[in-house]
Amino acid sequence: MDTEIFLIATDNIDNCGADLDKAASYIKEGGLVAFPTETVYGLGGNGLLANASKKIYEAKGRPSDNPLILHIADAKAVDELTDYVPDMAKKLIDAFWPGPMTLIFKKSDIVPYETTGGLDTVAIRYPMHPIALELIRRSGCYIAAPSANLSGRPSPTKAEHVITDLDGRVDAIIDGGDVDIGIESTIIDLTGDRPVILRPGFITEDMIKSVLGDVCFDPAVLLDHADSSIVAKAPGMKYKHYAPKAELSLIEGDDLAVLAGFLKMIKEAKNKGLKVGVIVTKEHEDAIDADAKIVLGSKNDLKSIAHNLFASLREMDDFGVDVIYCESFSNEELGRAIMNRLLKAAGYNLISAE
Ligand code: TXA
Ligand code: MG
Repeated sequence: MDTEIFLIATDNIDNCGADLDKAASYIKEGGLVAFPTETVYGLGGNGLLANASKKIYEAKGRPSDNPLILHIADAKAVDELTDYVPDMAKKLIDAFWPGPMTLIFKKSDIVPYETTGGLDTVAIRYPMHPIALELIRRSGCYIAAPSANLSGRPSPTKAEHVITDLDGRVDAIIDGGDVDIGIESTIIDLTGDRPVILRPGFITEDMIKSVLGDVCFDPAVLLDHADSSIVAKAPGMKYKHYAPKAELSLIEGDDLAVLAGFLKMIKEAKNKGLKVGVIVTKEHEDAIDADAKIVLGSKNDLKSIAHNLFASLREMDDFGVDVIYCESFSNEELGRAIMNRLLKAAGYNLISAE
C-alpha cells in the first residue's frame, strides 16, 4: 500500500483543511491514519468499526488481546461509549481533560469487542493536540489509536519514527512535528471502588490524589523486577515493550557510585570487543565516554528526560551499538513513568552500583 504523508504545522492548521479532510476521509472509510498527539504519535482507525480495529492490530503486529484506546474530541462522548460514569470520573475529567489521561469504564454495546481486546471495559482519552482533535472532529468518528510503533518498539515521538515503522502499512501519516510530552498517557481504571493507576504518565499520583483524595497503583506497576505471578491489569503492560535492538541495562545508585558503575561496565564491555552506547543526564555528560553517547537532559528536568527518552532508544539502534547503559531515575513524580518505560525497555535489567 502507498502511504500518503501530510505535512501539517500545528500552528497553521487552518491552512491545511484539505489535507485534514482527506486524512479524515480515510478514517471514515475504515482506513488507517497515524497522527500526532501531545503524548506520542497514534495509529488511528474508526474505533466503532470492528474491521478497522482488526487492521490496526495487523499493521502494528500487535496481539489481539491488547485493547485499544478510543480518542474523543468532546467529553460528552463518554455517555455514549460507556455504561456507567462514576463521580470520580467526572472530577478527573473536569481536572485533566483534554490532556494526557486515559480512563477505563464499563463499555456500552456500541463499542465492538475487537476494539477492547475482548474486554467488557473501554479505555477513553480526550487528547489536547490540535491536529488530533481536528482529525477526530472532521472524521466524525471515535478514533481507536494505539501508539504508532510496530509492536514491541519504542513509541514514536517524531513522524520519522512512524515512517520507519509503518510506511507501506497505513493509508496516511500526518507529520505534525515532534510531540510535546514524549511518554504515553496515564491510565486510570475506574471500574472498581478505588481508582487504580494501570500505567503511570504525565498526570502523576499526586495530581490525581489532589482531585480524588485517593488512588493506588496496579501492583504490576510497582515491580522493579520480572515477576510472572503478578499479571498487569492493562494487558499491554505485560508485554516486553519499548526495547531497542541492543541489550539495555540501567545503572542505579548514588551519584558517585553511578559514575563508577558506568566506567566499570563500559570497560568490561570494551574488553569483550563490544560497541557501547550510553544514555546519560547532562550532569554526567563530561565524565562518561563511550562509542555513542546521548544526553537526555538535566536530571532536575524530568520533562525533558521524558521528552527525549523514546527517541534516544531509537537513536541507539541507528548507532548500531551492541550494549547500552542508561542512568536510572527516582520514582518521584514524572520519574515513576520514566522508570516504568525504562525498566520494560531493559527487560528489568537493573544494575545496582554500590
Ligand atoms: O498516550 C497514549 O495513551 C497513546 C496516544 C496515541 O493516545 N496511546 C497509547 O496506546 O499508548 P497503546 O495502545 O500503545 O497503549 C494502550 C494501553 C495498553 O497497555 C492497553 O493494554 C491498555 O492501554 N488498555 C486499553 N484498554 C484497556 C482496558 N479496557 N483495560 C485495561 N487496559 C486497557
Ligand atoms: Mg504502545
